[in-house]
Amino acid sequence: MSSILDYDTVALDEQEPALVIIDQTLLPGEIKLLHLTKQNEIWEAIRTLRVRGAPAIGVAAAIGLYLAAREIETEERAAFLDALHMAAEYLNSARPTAVNLSWALARMERAARDFQGNVAACKERLRWECQAIWAEDIDVCRRLGENGLTLVKPGAGLLTHCNAGQLATVRYGTATAPMYLGQQRGYHFRVYCDETRPLLQGARLTSFELSSAGIDTTLICDNMAASVMKKGLIDAVFVGCDRVAANGDAANKIGTLGVAILAKRFGIPFYVVAPSSTIDLNTPTGEEIIIEERDGDEICEMWYEQRMAPAGIKTWNPAFDVTDHDLIDAIVTEYGVARAPYDVSLREIFAKKEAARK
Ligand code: MRU
Repeated sequence: MSSILDYDTVALDEQEPALVIIDQTLLPGEIKLLHLTKQNEIWEAIRTLRVRGAPAIGVAAAIGLYLAAREIETEERAAFLDALHMAAEYLNSARPTAVNLSWALARMERAARDFQGNVAACKERLRWECQAIWAEDIDVCRRLGENGLTLVKPGAGLLTHCNAGQLATVRYGTATAPMYLGQQRGYHFRVYCDETRPLLQGARLTSFELSSAGIDTTLICDNMAASVMKKGLIDAVFVGCDRVAANGDAANKIGTLGVAILAKRFGIPFYVVAPSSTIDLNTPTGEEIIIEERDGDEICEMWYEQRMAPAGIKTWNPAFDVTDHDLIDAIVTEYGVARAPYDVSLREIFAKKEAARK
């Protein structure tokens, strides 16, 4: 193994069996694989961002639910489905904003409910389904890359926020997929990564994985985005997302809204890259998206040798914000590039998805 990109971010080890993840809390200093088998370990890994990023969380939860199914002892179908549902609800409670978590768990439960064989065979069916979700994630990210690449020219300066890279998916990433593909095709992109306070996914993860791939990568603090834009260094912004509402409002890592407002100010196209598993037509607008709030210690203490804020200071630490659809120039999906009005174009994307299934 020579680079972080040689590792799968998340995978099922069928021999053990176990969920295998890279512990992202240790990056970039240490690459450590964790083999998780127990439900509370998997819940904790999602909650504490050992595995993170909307698609990766979904894949991890699907594998987690397969492992939970193996532990269910009853041979009786209804009791098995009830126990499976309880396990799914538990994993789903780990984080609220990324829809991929509930999407993957619902897909696994549906596979079990629709399966007509006995409980032992149903467990095999679930193994197959979580592996299918894993493999589809790779294929989807590759297609996101192809579609995203149509929006930019060789030599472009690109800005991204947080980590919507390989470490947030099984491979390639979402917002970074056009960057990796461009690299393979000699596009020579210059990529600027926001550090992304407070958990520094841009500094610790995105700048690490992009530079490992040989991409021209520059790390900036979040409050420098306006300056690189004003200097004319940015031709397009690509970000990932955790949930896209039916009207095109998109929840992503806190700070994304600010980047979108800046991009509008400087006339720079702002693209959200979203696998269809991140688009939630059941959520009408961004207003209804639940935004995770995290411990204030992440702002005051984490990463510092000594506490950097007065003891007892009030904090507010939302992990995500919602970018209004009118700030988004396009939503790049694996079924094509959707543009405003999103209430129409996102439904067309789902119609294409449905047609491809038949
Ligand atoms: O809190 P995180 O690190 O899970 O947040 C991740 C993001 O906001 C990503 O941009 C998003 O999940 C898209 S990942 C392809």
